[in-house]
Amino acid sequence: MYKCALILAAGQGTRIKSDLPKVLHKACGKEMVNHVIDTLRKADIADINVIIGKGSELVKEKTSSREVSYSLQAEQLGTGHAVKCAIDFLKDKKGTVAIFCGDAPLIKEETVVSLFEEHNSNNNTATLLTSILDDATGYGRIIRDGNEVLKIVEHKDCNEEELKVTEMNAGVYCFDIEKLLEALNKLSNNNSQGEYYLTDVIGILKSEGEKVGAVVIDFEETLGVNSRAQLAQVESILRKRINAKHMDNGVTLIDPNNTYIGADVIIGKDTIIYPGNVLEGNTVIGERCMLYPNSRINNSTIENDVEIQSSVILDSKVGEKTTVGPFAYIRPDSVIGSHVRIGDFVEIKKSVIGNNTKVSHLTYVGDAEVGENCNFGCGTVTVNYDGKNKNKTIIGNNSFIGCNTNLISPVKVEDNAYIAAGSTITDDVKSGELAVARAKQRNIAGWVDKRGLLKK
Ligand code: UD1
Ligand code: CA
Repeated sequence: MYKCALILAAGQGTRIKSDLPKVLHKACGKEMVNHVIDTLRKADIADINVIIGKGSELVKEKTSSREVSYSLQAEQLGTGHAVKCAIDFLKDKKGTVAIFCGDAPLIKEETVVSLFEEHNSNNNTATLLTSILDDATGYGRIIRDGNEVLKIVEHKDCNEEELKVTEMNAGVYCFDIEKLLEALNKLSNNNSQGEYYLTDVIGILKSEGEKVGAVVIDFEETLGVNSRAQLAQVESILRKRINAKHMDNGVTLIDPNNTYIGADVIIGKDTIIYPGNVLEGNTVIGERCMLYPNSRINNSTIENDVEIQSSVILDSKVGEKTTVGPFAYIRPDSVIGSHVRIGDFVEIKKSVIGNNTKVSHLTYVGDAEVGENCNFGCGTVTVNYDGKNKNKTIIGNNSFIGCNTNLISPVKVEDNAYIAAGSTITDDVKSGELAVARAKQRNIAGWVDKRGLLKK
């Protein structure tokens, strides 16, 4: 049976007070609408149409990697009108369409699967998700006759009896496509908000004798974000779920309440993560790594047995058994080899560092290709910028860069070369050479006394 999904994402979300369309606000590092898309994909829904309106170009751009199609709702006249705007996507299709909200990212894969199962196994025309609340203020109420769902009434249109109903509409549905399209044509906006409500479709179908079912789920999954406070609430629920998953997979989190792992991060078993770590984007962490407190790692691959402490690593790769930090800054497009040491107050930018090389303290390496088994003394600087261009520094294998060396690029230091401490290197150094590029020391006897500076 053919199935597809619509995601309602046209609203601006005035209550979130943002220039950004609401569905693009992130929870655990991923846009809310992308959480929904990814969950639907995991639930095996290939054909997804996103209904966009406010900030449509930006929503398209931020969802572009996910291969969905779009419908435009130029004016936000209600959820029913939004679905009508997807007519080109839905027409001529036979099967089931499920509808989700782009601002409710907590819906789980297994819930989506069971919604479809319930819908199909009962041959329903419509199936909706509901929750029971102590106080359903603000939500559409599910009006039943015994067990049967009759209709949904929006909070603002409820009479006194209906206001007492505690079963709320989660805003997630499955419909028979053809019957949904027919019912949408019968919607009116004759209600307190002057909107075309998707929820009225339920009453219309029911009055035509169609079969309507409902699945009651945990309220947490239905949580929609209207404000920054709700965004924080959703973030904290997602974080708990993500952290629980990693612990299930064999990762130790010393304090899960203070560990911030993005939705798409992968971590190998027996890795230990101390508090204050922020792992973002498509980061992959290997097995048996030690992430001591307070690092931020974004879109980077960290191989097995790496130790990192209080450092920032962006869009880079770190090889196995390497140690990083404390207070190292590895900037985009760097490839750090294995058994490497990147020590305290070291900045690496767009550089390759070969296996077993040590850059232990107070050093800047930018636009450089460094070989294996090299040693950098404290305070080395690759002088990669001449005020106009960024130039390259190339260092071969087994080279020794003395403390406080300036490497004025473009410059090349070959394999097995030595550079004396305090040198400013402007010319290439050949293999086997020692380069000394500093003023010769001169000692002037009696100078302090002659100047009257001698303290007696
Ligand atoms: C909706 C339901 C309500 C349910 C609640 C659950 C309706 C009429 N009501 O109410 O029964 O309890 O969700 O959270 O459907 N949107 C558009 N275009 C529009 C209007 C809305 O794309 O013209 C999108 C919004 O961006 C949002 C979603 O639809 O993602 C829901 O809209 P919203 O205005 O938040 O509906 P609620 O009033 O919360
Ligand atoms: Ca809402």
